Amino acid sequence: MSLPTVRQSVLKRLVIIYHSKTGNTRAMIDAVIDGAKDPQLNDVDVHVLTAAEAQPEDLLSADGLILGTPENFGYMSGALKDFFDRSFYEVEGRLPPLPYATVINAGNDGSGAIRSIERIANGYPLVQVQEAIIGHGPPDQETLDRCKELGGALAAGLELGVY
Ligand SMILES: Cc1cc2nc3c(=O)[nH]c(=O)nc-3n(C[C@H](O)[C@H](O)[C@H](O)COP(=O)(O)O)c2cc1C
Repeated sequence: MSLPTVRQSVLKRLVIIYHSKTGNTRAMIDAVIDGAKDPQLNDVDVHVLTAAEAQPEDLLSADGLILGTPENFGYMSGALKDFFDRSFYEVEGRLPPLPYATVINAGNDGSGAIRSIERIANGYPLVQVQEAIIGHGPPDQETLDRCKELGGALAAGLELGVY
């Protein structure tokens, strides 16, 4: 006698942590959230936090991570750096390689912010699964569309077990 097949729903958690002082990064993150909350993706819980709110446990509970920050003084924002400072020892050795992607908003090319995140990410370990998206000031529609795609891709990748 064959047993009935039971589809097991395993909810995956996509954690989004961002800082935005004047709203440009937040606009990009809103588009990321929009993509990640695609109604066709039923098995992904999207959890959005500012960098100031985020706690080490938010990393430990994550299956995937999206970070958003302006470039400040050639680096990620102080708020996001503070989150890394507050969470490293707490998660060290306890975090399986966590798939992540980044959205940056910058007056210039944003490369300093990207580099600063990539260096720190290695130590956690966070594994970059999509190229960073860089917006400049109030994001144009193309940038927002790419952010939406990014959110959808990360969420779909988690739901499908690609990551
Ligand atoms: C204190 C400070 C430092 C900044 N440093 C840089 C920088 O080094 N490179 C850059 O491209 N933009 C720099 N900017 C510009 C911001 O990255 C830019 O205004 C961005 O759109 C802000 O994003 P937000 O609206 O999400 O806060 C700086 C802005 C501030 C307030």
